[in-house]
Amino acid sequence: MKILTIVGARPQFIKSAILSLEILKHSNIQEIILHTGQHYDDNMSNIFFEELKIPKPKYNLNINGGSHGFQTGNMIIEIEKITQDEKPDAILIYGDTNSTLAGALVGAKLHVPVIHVEAGLRSFDKAMPEEINRICADNVSKFLFCPTKVAVDNLIHENITKGVFMVGDIMYDSAIYFGNNSKSKILEKNNLKSNEYILTTIHREANTISKEKLSNIINALIDSKEKIVLPLHPRTKKALEDFDLYEKAKNSLKIIDPVGYLDMLALESNAKKIITDSGGVQKEACFVKKPCITLRNSTEWIETVTAGYNILVDSDYNKILDTIKNFNPKITNYNFYGDGKACEKIVNIIQGDYNGI
Ligand code: UD1
Ligand code: UDP
Repeated sequence: MKILTIVGARPQFIKSAILSLEILKHSNIQEIILHTGQHYDDNMSNIFFEELKIPKPKYNLNINGGSHGFQTGNMIIEIEKITQDEKPDAILIYGDTNSTLAGALVGAKLHVPVIHVEAGLRSFDKAMPEEINRICADNVSKFLFCPTKVAVDNLIHENITKGVFMVGDIMYDSAIYFGNNSKSKILEKNNLKSNEYILTTIHREANTISKEKLSNIINALIDSKEKIVLPLHPRTKKALEDFDLYEKAKNSLKIIDPVGYLDMLALESNAKKIITDSGGVQKEACFVKKPCITLRNSTEWIETVTAGYNILVDSDYNKILDTIKNFNPKITNYNFYGDGKACEKIVNIIQGDYNGI
C-alpha cells in the first residue's frame, strides 16, 4: 500500500513524526512524504525533521507564505501533478491548515481515498481559516480519525458517520513518546527555573492581524509582572514589528526564537502556567497538568474548558491579567485523549482491520 502524506506546518511535522514511526513498523506500507513548504524557517521546519527523525520528504513544493488563495491554489496544482505521477492508494492529511485543505481537495477530485487524522474538530467559528479547512476536509475524507468523543459527535451532527473512528489523539501518543525520551537543555540555556515562569505562544490570525488585540495581549503580559517566556512565531514577530510593539515587548518579556518540540515539551512541563492561542499547546498544557489560559473566544478542544483546566479569555486585557493571577485549577485527571495508542489503531484500521466505533 502506498500512502502520500501531505505536511506543511509545524504541528503537522510533529503529528507525522509519531505516525511515521508506526507506519515504518509495517513493511507492506510505503509512505511518501510531501512537504508543501508552508512553514520553511529552519526552526519552523528542518529542526523537527532532524530531531524527531521524520523520514525525508521526497517532495518539497517550497510554497512559502502568501495569502490563503495563493498558498492553497499553488499547493493544489502541485499536489495534483505528484498524485498523478505517484498514483498513491491514499492521501494522508493532518489537522486543519491550508496544506490539509489542498491535500483533501486533490484526493477527492482524483478519487484517491483521503485519510484525515484529527477529524471532527470544530470551534464553531467560521471566521477562523482553520474551521473552513476542517469542514471541507472532513466532508471529502474516507477515513476520519477523531481524537475525542466530542469530535465524533460533531461529525454525527453533520451527518458524517461513515469511516469515522475514535482513536484518541496522536499528539498524546507523541507527548508520551518524545516527552519520555527528552534530554532538553532549554531551561539551563535560558537561565530558567522550574515553576518560575509562564510559557506563552501567540500566532493565531485573529490575534496577529489586529493591532488592538495584539497590544491588549502584550500589555497584559507585561503588566502581570510575571516572567513570561515567549517563543515567538515568525508571523507574530512580523506583526509586533509592523505595529511598533516589538521593542516594548522585547524589553519586558523573555522573547526567544521558536524552539524544537523536545525543548517545547520541557518548557511546558516546567512552566507555572501556559498562555496560548495554539490548538496543540492547549492540550499539551493538560498533558503536563498546567493551567491553560487561552487567548481565543472559542476552542475545538472544549473538553479542557469543561473540565475546568482551560479558560477562554480572548484578547481581553482585564481577563488576561485576572486569570494570570487567579486561575489556579488543580489538574487531576484527563481521560479525553485516548490511551496513547492512537497511531497503532490508525494503521491497523487503514490496513483493513476495522475495529472502529
Ligand atoms: C498556520 C496554520 C494554522 C496553524 C499554524 C501552526 C493555516 C490557515 N494556518 O498558521 O492553522 O495553527 O500554521 O503554526 O494554514 N512565516 C515565516 N516563516 C515560517 C512560517 C511562516 O516567516 O517558517 C510567516 C510568513 O510571513 C507567513 C506567515 O508567517 O506568511 C503566516 O504563515 P502561515 O503558514 O500562512 O500561517 P500560520 O499563522 O503559521
Ligand atoms: N511548538 C514547538 N515549538 C514552539 C511552539 C510550539 O515545537 O516554539 C509545538 C507545540 O509543542 C505543539 C505544536 O508545536 O506540539 C503546536 O503548533 P502550533 O502552535 O504552531 O499550531 P496549532 O497547534 O495551533 O495548529
